[in-house]
Amino acid sequence: MNNLSQTPTQEKRQPTDMKTSNGTVAEAPKMYETENDITKGRRVQLNALLNQRLACAIDLQMQMKQAHWNVKGPSFIGLHQLFDEVAEAVEGYVDQIAERVVQLGGVAEGTVRMAAARTRLIEYSPEISDGMAHVEEVANALSTFGQSARSTINEAEELDDADTADLFTEISRGIDKWLWFVEAHSQAAK
Ligand SMILES: [Fe+2]
Repeated sequence: MNNLSQTPTQEKRQPTDMKTSNGTVAEAPKMYETENDITKGRRVQLNALLNQRLACAIDLQMQMKQAHWNVKGPSFIGLHQLFDEVAEAVEGYVDQIAERVVQLGGVAEGTVRMAAARTRLIEYSPEISDGMAHVEEVANALSTFGQSARSTINEAEELDDADTADLFTEISRGIDKWLWFVEAHSQAAK
């Protein structure tokens, strides 16, 4: 029996309740003092929003790697390389989202466990191998994340944070481009 199977309750904890390295249980998200003029109330809401999107972005990045590693078939090399380019772009979004949290005085919550607990993407199928099946799965993941990125633009504007709205405008534009690159493999006239 391994240790993981002996601690099932840990998997159910929310990220903010996770045990820290010294054994204490972390409470509400920590906010640092900052001279940033966005009010603390808005920064708390923005950080909750950003940490949720960070979880989805980390999940998306690893799903693109999953596709990159496992794709097979006649289009292997093109799709293998394309999925890696998408993963690299998403890694950049992950970094920008996490650093925006910190700029607003928050703590970026970006471990694998935190991301797994919060992501809203559906799990990537471990069963598929054919290139076109990966194209469809990747397109679905990009579409789901793209929809949430687009809605984040409006949510950030409602919180009066044009910079976070601008960040998600950039991310949304990028995701639309990658969705086009991926879907072009399945859109040719039959
Ligand atoms: Fe690789």
